[in-house]
Amino acid sequence: MNNSSLEKIAKLMVAPSKGILAADESTGTIKKRLDSISVESNEINRRAYREMLFTAPEIEKYISAVILFDETLRQNSRSGKRLTEILQEKHIIPGIKVDKGTWPCPGYNEYPITQGLDQLKQRCDEYYELGAKFTKWRAVIKIINSFTPEEVIEANALTLALYASTAQESGLVPIVEPEVLMDGNHEIDICQKVTETTLKLVFDKLNQFNVNLNGIVLKPNMVLSGSDSNQEIDHSEVADKTLNILKGCVPKSVPGIAFLSGGQNEIEATENLNYINQTDNLPWEVTFSYGRALQQTALYKWKGEEKNVSVSQKAFIHRAKMNSLAHDGKYKSNLENQ
Ligand code: 13P
Repeated sequence: MNNSSLEKIAKLMVAPSKGILAADESTGTIKKRLDSISVESNEINRRAYREMLFTAPEIEKYISAVILFDETLRQNSRSGKRLTEILQEKHIIPGIKVDKGTWPCPGYNEYPITQGLDQLKQRCDEYYELGAKFTKWRAVIKIINSFTPEEVIEANALTLALYASTAQESGLVPIVEPEVLMDGNHEIDICQKVTETTLKLVFDKLNQFNVNLNGIVLKPNMVLSGSDSNQEIDHSEVADKTLNILKGCVPKSVPGIAFLSGGQNEIEATENLNYINQTDNLPWEVTFSYGRALQQTALYKWKGEEKNVSVSQKAFIHRAKMNSLAHDGKYKSNLENQ
């Protein structure tokens, strides 16, 4: 493992004014997205959609890295060029999701645990050869009736650490993603408590398995109330509570934190990131690694039709630009209409 190249890549992934596009929806998830615009989920349409995003004019001004799914990493564009080559020509770093989704946690079947450790080293080695520079693993922490057993969090933290250590041994920067889900009727303080326990356990395990913290990117959730609770929270409270936890749990050696959007709408995700970045002297770069909150409007405008490519790309670039401003704490809502 070459520590200095891991650290260099991690820093580039969270470079100022830039963020990460999560385009690594699994075959099942991308089908749901394409179903929502009545487009068949086949290899050609999935490629057309992702090629539309990657070739959007000026994407490289706002996007440092793209997380891909296995199919996309191996796919050629319509003109025959590898999709990863299209990204690399724009100095955008390609990475790969390596987890295999969730299954019921043994002993706690209502709660998920992420699978994918089998043959992980071999898969990481192959992805390195194919040009990936980083990886992603998403652990999903569910809150049911305002409660998550610590055993489930610990099991997820352990698998995240085993994954991160494996990725680094293959020369790949691990995105460490412990997502406390927004689903549920819990209030924000419960999310705060579960997020705190999760991050503490994750960093304990990362240390136990000798993960080089200078060579990772942390991808956490923001601290939010459950999507089925009626609790109204303003952006400054989300920012305060989120930063409070992060400052207590995330060592300064971690170069960057790139949030997931996790079901927030596009504007909320931008506003919350901007509020977080209004705080001076944060010890890490704090940016976005959004999937839905970068793609939602673009997907609806595209509708699977060639004639909509340009308008869809504009919508995608607009969101990327708004979030780039939010990374720097310079977003203003009146920019949405320009
Ligand atoms: P969302 O921003 O849509 O939550 O997706 C980010 C992601 O990569 C989840 O693993």
